Amino acid sequence: MKESKAERLLERLNGAFAGPSKLLYYPLIVKEAHGSTVTDVEGRDYIDFNAGWTVAGVGFSNPEVVEAVKEQVSLSAGLAGGTFPSETAIQFAEKLVSMTPGRFEKRVWFGHSGTDSCAAAYKLIPMATGRERSVTFFGGMHGVDLAGLAMGGIRSTNKYRVPSLVTKVPYAYCYRCPYGLEYPSCGVYCASDFIEEQVFKNVCPPEDTAFMLVEPMQSDSGDIVPPREYLPKLRKTTEKFGIALVADEVKIGFGRTGKMFGVENTGVVPDAVALGKSVSSGIPVGALVAKKELFPEAFAISTLVGNAVGAAAGIATIRIIERDHLSERAAKLGRRLRKRLDEMKERHPLIGDVRGQGLILGVEFVKDRKKKTPARIETAKVVYRAWQLGLLTVFVGSDANVVELTPPLVISEEDLEAGADILDRAIGEVERGGVSDAVVRDYTGM
Ligand SMILES: Cc1ncc(COP(=O)(O)O)c(C=O)c1O
Repeated sequence: MKESKAERLLERLNGAFAGPSKLLYYPLIVKEAHGSTVTDVEGRDYIDFNAGWTVAGVGFSNPEVVEAVKEQVSLSAGLAGGTFPSETAIQFAEKLVSMTPGRFEKRVWFGHSGTDSCAAAYKLIPMATGRERSVTFFGGMHGVDLAGLAMGGIRSTNKYRVPSLVTKVPYAYCYRCPYGLEYPSCGVYCASDFIEEQVFKNVCPPEDTAFMLVEPMQSDSGDIVPPREYLPKLRKTTEKFGIALVADEVKIGFGRTGKMFGVENTGVVPDAVALGKSVSSGIPVGALVAKKELFPEAFAISTLVGNAVGAAAGIATIRIIERDHLSERAAKLGRRLRKRLDEMKERHPLIGDVRGQGLILGVEFVKDRKKKTPARIETAKVVYRAWQLGLLTVFVGSDANVVELTPPLVISEEDLEAGADILDRAIGEVERGGVSDAVVRDYTGM
């Protein structure tokens, strides 16, 4: 007989959910979540530093979003948005067109997720341009359907064998430069030089390359912020060869990095942006917003896409982000949290690197700072112990050794500080050997 309700539910979860649809970091079963607080089935509250993988930028169950969704559900739930469109969805699409970077003619393709948005680029841009190939990046996460798997460059999805015409190239991971170079003397070789001199010449002719899909800041591979020259150099290369540049903003878009869209930190205007997660605060919506000419005459409608309920959630979400200046808030709170983390790095030898932008920050853990040996088990322990102490975080990274911090953008300053205190304490306890290997046996990632 299992003791707690959570334990009993966990057993049922394992008996009911397929393995590939779970990714747990601790045995938490949620009852409810509001603002930046998550409550488990035992009634215990946690400070949340994850925001549902950034979905809840405006906070969990934001009352304004809830109200908008309730109203729209009662008006027209069940309509197929592509065939029976609504004024709400038209308004939402117009808003996305006007707020995304680039003052050219655009259109919106709607889906249900970030996976859908990236897959739309994969199938539609080659058809529109008559070019078959594409370039994506090591460490990139672009979803889990066949297109996303073909384009992704992360460890947890590389078990899938998906034939494709995608060429993957190293990203600008300066802490562990794939070329063994050092910034700035490298001249950001990883951007255009390698692609133009090697990739285009040998394996991926640029005249047959339709698009390049890039995260302006990679998240799942370890919260990696490339040097400021990186995106502008990629942009130059794509322009030179007439290749569409698609920015994957699924995780970092809508204020998180301190700008409405992460790519706006770089000064680059992409030809398309892939959106998802926080665009609609938990009602499944994805969108590819692209130059009009990047969409072919073709059929690519899933029954419920462009539905008014998702659109209502999206309109309410964007209204809150703009009205409450949440991008600026993310920049301000991000500086504050970053300061705490930099200060922790001084005291905790386990921390190898601290990086990020706005309220998406990563703390990379290493066994020793010189060799930078990834401290994978220790990272899982920090996340587990923080959960025990009342803070929800996750780890990401190619070596599963980066604790990712992405609190809701509406988190209070008190909760931000309290969460940082817990993290600090958890790291200290792990460093002192206070957390056993056994507790994280099932929670070390894939
Ligand atoms: C950058 C990025 N793109 C695309 C996706 C896929 O989005 P979703 O999981 O909502 O389908 C993710 C998911 O983590 C992501 O981080």
